Amino acid sequence: MQIRSLLEEDFDVVIKLGNAIHGKGYLTRQSLLEMFNKGIKHGINAHAIATTGEKVIGFRLTYSPGNWNSDEWCSPKHWAVSAQKVCYFKTNNVLPEWRGNGVGHLLLEHSINAVKQQGAKAGIAHIWKESPNNSSIRYFSKAGAKLIKEHPKRWSWENYDENYDCAHCGGNCHCTACEMLLEF
Ligand SMILES: CC(C)(COP(=O)(O)OP(=O)(O)OC[C@H]1O[C@@H](n2cnc3c(N)ncnc32)[C@H](O)[C@@H]1OP(=O)(O)O)[C@@H](O)C(=O)NCCC(=O)NCCS
Repeated sequence: MQIRSLLEEDFDVVIKLGNAIHGKGYLTRQSLLEMFNKGIKHGINAHAIATTGEKVIGFRLTYSPGNWNSDEWCSPKHWAVSAQKVCYFKTNNVLPEWRGNGVGHLLLEHSINAVKQQGAKAGIAHIWKESPNNSSIRYFSKAGAKLIKEHPKRWSWENYDENYDCAHCGGNCHCTACEMLLEF
């Protein structure tokens, strides 16, 4: 298993895997390109992908510090680090049959090494509370992240995107986003 930087030539497989896990409309070519550009700073790429041979088994999208703006779903007053030094851990996804083997952690580590070089001291994420086997809160808490605030219905048609159909809710998403801060 290898971990490397995610590149534009990986977009098709990343969109397929992301939408298979989270639901239709979670990623599109246009939204992924916008996310991708937010992870490039000082010529460093903060995104990561996990492969075994040619097969993609996981990916992580991360926005560089200063390349994204906090919004009503963020509580910078409660972050122990100035927002300019905080990266955004957008999403982390591993194929179901490969979960529980630490791949998610290695993808996170790859991104942290990159954003540190981009000036980050911490990262914020909106962790999916309804993740299968509670895997998302478990892996991010295991990395040392702390809960800041819960945001119910963060990804609903009204609050996120009317074109996003949640795989867990089967349509309009009622899942909860756990705003969590990881200092490093
Ligand atoms: C969240 C995710 C990226 C973590 O990656 P991973 O490689 O599974 O990470 P780990 O191997 O460190 O597993 C994390 C925890 O979940 C548990 N876990 C993961 N998959 C599991 C499974 N299929 N059955 C039981 N436990 C599982 C692990 O035991 C571990 O918990 P523990 O250390 O407390 O025992 C991955 O599980 C995933 O893609 N989940 C679904 C999508 C998702 O929620 N993405 C995050 C969006 S915010």
